[in-house]
Amino acid sequence: MTTVTWLGHASMAIETNNYRILVDPFIRDNPAAPVQEEELSADFILVSHGHGDHVGDTVSIAKRTDALVISNFEISNWLGSKGVRTHPQHIGGGFHHPFGYLKLTQALHGSALPDGSYGGNPAGFLLTTLEGKKIYLACDTGLFGDMRLIGEEGIELAVLPIGDNFTMGPADALKAVKLIKPRHVIPIHYNTWDLIAQDVQAWKAQVEAETSAQVHVLSPGQSLSLD
Ligand code: NI
Ligand code: MN
Repeated sequence: MTTVTWLGHASMAIETNNYRILVDPFIRDNPAAPVQEEELSADFILVSHGHGDHVGDTVSIAKRTDALVISNFEISNWLGSKGVRTHPQHIGGGFHHPFGYLKLTQALHGSALPDGSYGGNPAGFLLTTLEGKKIYLACDTGLFGDMRLIGEEGIELAVLPIGDNFTMGPADALKAVKLIKPRHVIPIHYNTWDLIAQDVQAWKAQVEAETSAQVHVLSPGQSLSLD
């Protein structure tokens, strides 16, 4: 059983086979965060790229919980220099972690770290759970045609940004659903600030009218369970 919880903005908590995984834990400065940073526990933390709204509170949470942080090689080095335990991977590469098989996917975005350090290339994540369910976290990205290749894997759940301005907006995120063909979709990276405000119910209605995907509009703190 796998449960995916939205922590507002692009932060997710995934619980699968009793492993607790945080993705891009941006809590302290996240106006949409439903929890305090100190309340979060983690065995693993995934960091998609170097921007402050994704690296977020990774260093303090990782040090407090001793979570292993999985990110690209450059961000792993940067976190390692701050005393965090890391596992570096890179785009196209997968690894069998205790919680499942995790592959880094391409993302069209930037990745500079908060202090200006080079953060390598931004990534998304394709997680295959121990039960074989595939979860695609696109993370911050524009639309790209090779989402079709990711879709060929047979995606149970796609977590997609819809906020526009910094990432795909609603129209391109609809095209992404058509390329990926997931059974379930969770929209993220919207409504955190006015700059990325979107009518998510209108997007859900359009996606469900034009595709067979089911869109789950979560409030921060709400979960979707995949049995
Ligand atoms: Ni970003
Ligand atoms: Mn972002």
